[in-house]
Amino acid sequence: MSRLRDVREALSQRVYAMAPHEMLPRERDLAEELGVSRTSLRQWLRELTEAGLIYSVRGKGTFVSDRRISKGTGLTSFTEDMVERGMHPATTVLNVRQALAEGSIAEEFSLAPGSLLHCIDRLRTADGAPMCIEQVHLPAEYFPGLLREDLSGSLYDIMRRQYGVEVVFARQHVRAVAPTAAQARLLQVSRNAPLLEVCRIGFDPRHRAIERAVTTYRGDRYDFFMTIRRDA
Ligand code: GLP
Repeated sequence: MSRLRDVREALSQRVYAMAPHEMLPRERDLAEELGVSRTSLRQWLRELTEAGLIYSVRGKGTFVSDRRISKGTGLTSFTEDMVERGMHPATTVLNVRQALAEGSIAEEFSLAPGSLLHCIDRLRTADGAPMCIEQVHLPAEYFPGLLREDLSGSLYDIMRRQYGVEVVFARQHVRAVAPTAAQARLLQVSRNAPLLEVCRIGFDPRHRAIERAVTTYRGDRYDFFMTIRRDA
């Protein structure tokens, strides 16, 4: 990665580390802090403005936008969510392995206990800032050879393109959790910062459960919305 790209990433991480509506340092100070020319800095600030991450108030300065991700009830992937918001998604694969389906996981997949599952742990970032950690289980019989694929992009893309399988509906539940030491380190939050854990069981058009994903989102980055209706 080039130095300029490093600096650009350092700038967006700097912005992510700040609170919504906090004022950025003056241009001169920021350029000095990052060791870049004011011309390059201005260009990047323009990009961050276009991406909705910062905003300027005439005569006052540049401020950090409230960048919480509003997530509705549409069934989308992490990559789709970020791209839709003009953000650059990236993924670090933390661990891949195979496991045997036991207990409630076997039941959720309607698989016989002892069936083989793929298990993938990934850290997902947007514009260089950590957003969530994901642990996904998938029945190995539906996705032979999946663990040999490059899993640093969109899993839903691989499922669709390599296996012709798509998650078309899902059951989800959301709960607040406190970070473990490892989660706090990966997500760059304190041990006191609440996280939102979303467990999704994803089904294909034939109603087969094909994915069980536990996604742990930074609580300060996500809002979840749903429409509820009184039973008739
Ligand atoms: C979201 C969902 C996961 C799903 C993931 C796929 O984060 N909560 O259940 O596995 O999207 O995202 P992508 O296709 O970007 O890998």
